[in-house]
Amino acid sequence: MNETIVSMENISKSFPGVKALDHVHFELRSGEVMALLGENGAGKSTLMKILSGVYTRDEGSMTIFGREYGDLNPKQAQEVGVAIIHQELNMCRHLSVAENMFLGREKRKGIMLSNSEMEAEAQRILDDLKIDLRPQQVVGELPVSMQQMVEIAKALSTNAKILIMDEPTSALTAREIEDLFRIIRELKERGCGIVYISHRLEELQHIVDRVTIMRDGQYITSMNFKDATMDEIIANMVGREIKEKFPRVECEKGKLVLEVKNLNAGRLVRNVEFSLYEGEIVGFAGLMGAGRTETTRAIFGVDPKESGDIVLDGKEVVIHKPEDAIKAGIVLAPEDRKKDGLCTKLSIRHNIALPNLDLLCNKLGVVSSVKEHEMCDRVVENLKVKTPTMEVEAGNLSGGNQQKVVVGKWLARNSRVVIFDEPTRGIDVAAKVEIYNLMNELKQQGIAVMFVSSEMPEVMGIADRIIVMCDGRITGELKSEEATQNQILTLATQFEKKIASGE
Ligand SMILES: Nc1ncnc2c1ncn2[C@@H]1O[C@H](COP(=O)(O)OP(=O)(O)OP(=O)(O)O)[C@@H](O)[C@H]1O
Ligand SMILES: [Mg+2]
Repeated sequence: MNETIVSMENISKSFPGVKALDHVHFELRSGEVMALLGENGAGKSTLMKILSGVYTRDEGSMTIFGREYGDLNPKQAQEVGVAIIHQELNMCRHLSVAENMFLGREKRKGIMLSNSEMEAEAQRILDDLKIDLRPQQVVGELPVSMQQMVEIAKALSTNAKILIMDEPTSALTAREIEDLFRIIRELKERGCGIVYISHRLEELQHIVDRVTIMRDGQYITSMNFKDATMDEIIANMVGREIKEKFPRVECEKGKLVLEVKNLNAGRLVRNVEFSLYEGEIVGFAGLMGAGRTETTRAIFGVDPKESGDIVLDGKEVVIHKPEDAIKAGIVLAPEDRKKDGLCTKLSIRHNIALPNLDLLCNKLGVVSSVKEHEMCDRVVENLKVKTPTMEVEAGNLSGGNQQKVVVGKWLARNSRVVIFDEPTRGIDVAAKVEIYNLMNELKQQGIAVMFVSSEMPEVMGIADRIIVMCDGRITGELKSEEATQNQILTLATQFEKKIASGE
């Protein structure tokens, strides 16, 4: 038991302008969960893409199950037993769950695809994982959390012996995370080696045996999880100590900025009413699926409203589409950054400039490149986006740095209300603090901040007031200095409990 199954030595990899990996060492044993930790852009995903054959290394050697591999392609990696669940979901949105699971290794009868066989196998795997999905469902219509579960099911369907999970829980609900941990423990029992990448450090204690820490493309150290303190781990990741995880600034609560009245939208959002004031951050807590994202989308004009008034600085504004909201001064950093928040094929510069063209163009509609560069430099600098140049495709940034661009483009304009939907998802400890500082700065500038987050500690640590939602409705409001996790949870599950007790 516990023999070394993967050993990577002196692995280097460069992209134009970046040395993503610099002589990195990595080792994985059978039957263990190895956490791979590091800040955004440290090189974690790149290293694991090399192990799974997605990228080829520039230098170094790689031994898997005792055999040395030079250039490994994805198919070979799969045959050796390596499966990877990518950080950014990689599903074909128009295909079904079963089709996605068997993509590239379809089951056939003669020359025909055997859909029934694939669907039956998919159903078995989904049942095994207790995932409530039908194999025929179209992936693009599923919420992010479910797509994530499909990725996991897909990886397991290949009978992987080395399973790499790159940020698997960032979009999962508490219950789904429990299911995932149960699956991970089972796989461990069967002798699988699991690489687990996560920025949610608090969850590591439930499953992790060892940790490997990287920083700036280099290997820093590995240790038994039990022998390390969290402060030690963080200090190794960041290269310095982080004193305040939730920096708080006190502001005078100012004028009323936004009133949302009687908002009804889609299947979920019912009679949502709240107000935002200058100088405060209002946290929206709740479980995944509570209707918070839907509320933000309806306000921003992405989804139609059935009813509801939006009053901004005392004046009613009519919002039919995002453009109306942006013009009025209400902006949104959405939850699903890849789909809604970024043009992944465009450069960082264009991503920041595009929604701000009205500020960058002269009267003839010509973009001022001086202004454009100033704006982009400011965003990249303020948020410490890790990139060699502004011309890098946004899709090539590390996950956390993508998020910074999504948030950053809105900071360039004088908005009155900034809505953040899960802004720290997939972001490292140090960058989280940067995002909090950013929200605090907006708050100090008199901008009303709406902060949707499923992570209770950060809502309690950063928001001034907490509104809790459950099942599309607001179930309560708490002052954050008085709020406890229990109170929030009780409000967040208010209707579920009623159903459970038959009320
Ligand atoms: N295809 C690519 N083209 C250009 N640069 C890339 C590419 N892939 C990664 N990089 C760069 O390599 C570095 C390491 O990125 P990587 O995605 O491995 O970081 P990470 O540790 O996974 O970060 P995160 O926690 O944010 O996901 C980053 O500077 C990133 O911008
Ligand atoms: Mg990554």
